[in-house]
Amino acid sequence: MTARQHRVATSFFFFLLVTLVFLLSVSAGGVMSGEAAEGRQLFNLKPSKLLVFGDSYVDTGNIRKAISRSWKFPYGLTFPGKPTGRFSDGRVLTDYLARFIGVKSPIPYKWRKIGYKSVRYGMNFAYGGTGVFDTLAPLPNMTTQIDFLQQILTQNTYSAWDLQSSVALVSVAGNDYSSYLARNGSLQDLPAFISQVVNQTSKNLIRLHGAGVKKVMVTGLPPLGCLPATTASNSFQQCDQSLNQLVTLHNLLLTQSVAALNNATGGPTFVMLDMYGAFMAALQPPPNGNINNNKSALKPCCVGTSASDSCGSVDEDGGGRKRYTVCQDPEAAFFWDGVHPTQAGWRAVYSTLKSNLMQL
Ligand SMILES: *[C@@H]1O[C@H](CO)[C@@H](O)[C@H](O)[C@H]1NC(C)=O
Ligand SMILES: *[C@@H]1O[C@H](CO)[C@@H](O)[C@H](O)[C@H]1NC(C)=O
Ligand SMILES: *[C@@H]1O[C@H](CO)[C@@H](O)[C@H](O)[C@H]1NC(C)=O
Ligand SMILES: *[C@@H]1O[C@H](CO)[C@@H](O)[C@H](O)[C@H]1NC(C)=O
Ligand SMILES: *[C@@H]1O[C@H](CO)[C@@H](O)[C@H](O)[C@H]1NC(C)=O
Repeated sequence: MTARQHRVATSFFFFLLVTLVFLLSVSAGGVMSGEAAEGRQLFNLKPSKLLVFGDSYVDTGNIRKAISRSWKFPYGLTFPGKPTGRFSDGRVLTDYLARFIGVKSPIPYKWRKIGYKSVRYGMNFAYGGTGVFDTLAPLPNMTTQIDFLQQILTQNTYSAWDLQSSVALVSVAGNDYSSYLARNGSLQDLPAFISQVVNQTSKNLIRLHGAGVKKVMVTGLPPLGCLPATTASNSFQQCDQSLNQLVTLHNLLLTQSVAALNNATGGPTFVMLDMYGAFMAALQPPPNGNINNNKSALKPCCVGTSASDSCGSVDEDGGGRKRYTVCQDPEAAFFWDGVHPTQAGWRAVYSTLKSNLMQL
């Protein structure tokens, strides 16, 4: 390994650690509505439903309480004031994009009820910790999440017309990569694995479109080299550029795939959400950034008291004393924990994505 490869591996290792800690530690909230609806059009479509697939950036409560920290305090602190399974202090990307298309945040698949009422805004099939391939977490990968949609469709929950006016949101934020490295996948083969992840993502997009979903939004990777899990090793001072280069490769391949799919389907059917650009814009210092944080923009709001703790850790002796600290003003922080933005962070990311979407 070269020094550079070693650094990349180390960063990925930290990224992985934090991701897994979320899964291995860890409380029902019903459906929550997003903030006020905006009801914009997407490619001249006025969507009536949002179908969501992917990971913790979009999960709004599918992940089981027994295995996820996202069901424990201080998650949900800002909104709605208690944990709901969201990996943030409040709303996540799903809630904001639902608002964009003018529907309430769709009910998590796990909490769906009999009858049309609970599912009329669509459904969220995303599980924190998952990828397009199996990750270390024993949770439904994206193929299985799409199988869940197919099962729902055979039950006549939705009509063909419903699907014709539905939009899918697909989040692939990096769990495939942290799991690849945890299984000791080689760095040399990483570019080939990146191609496989993008290829599998494209297959999922084709499947969703084939099932009748009208429009599909897919996220590019965020700057993994800037996540607190990565930058903790330099006290949250600077992003890891080597890691961000790999992210750039993934995003380039995904952009090309999406363009080819649009060409093949006589699109525009698929749209890529530039998470990299949106995260970077929000992380700019004021007055250019969207978050009023002058000090360390990369520092998360909620941190463990020691290296072996993380946001939400409590004493194991039964006392339940908390082993983390929460910043005074979560609204002034971009990152909530080692890998996830705060509600304010997501709002800032959304403001950039929204202006991109409105130019389509
Ligand atoms: C997804 O999970 C299913 C069920 O465990 C498995 O059969 C399938 O091979 C997985 N798909 C991918 C692409 O990893
Ligand atoms: C990966 O490599 C490390 C060190 O070489 C070893 O301790 C660990 O068990 C390996 N993990 C897997 C999943 O093979
Ligand atoms: C995935 O890769 C295979 C093998 O290279 C290729 O034949 C196929 O067209 C690719 N699929 C997509 C959707 O890119
Ligand atoms: C778009 O499709 C046409 C014909 O269907 C093909 O000739 C062209 O190469 C495609 N372009 C891209 C960028 O895939
Ligand atoms: C942040 O910086 C801006 C411009 O330099 C300044 O006006 C503002 O008071 C600062 N805010 C804090 C909380 O320090």
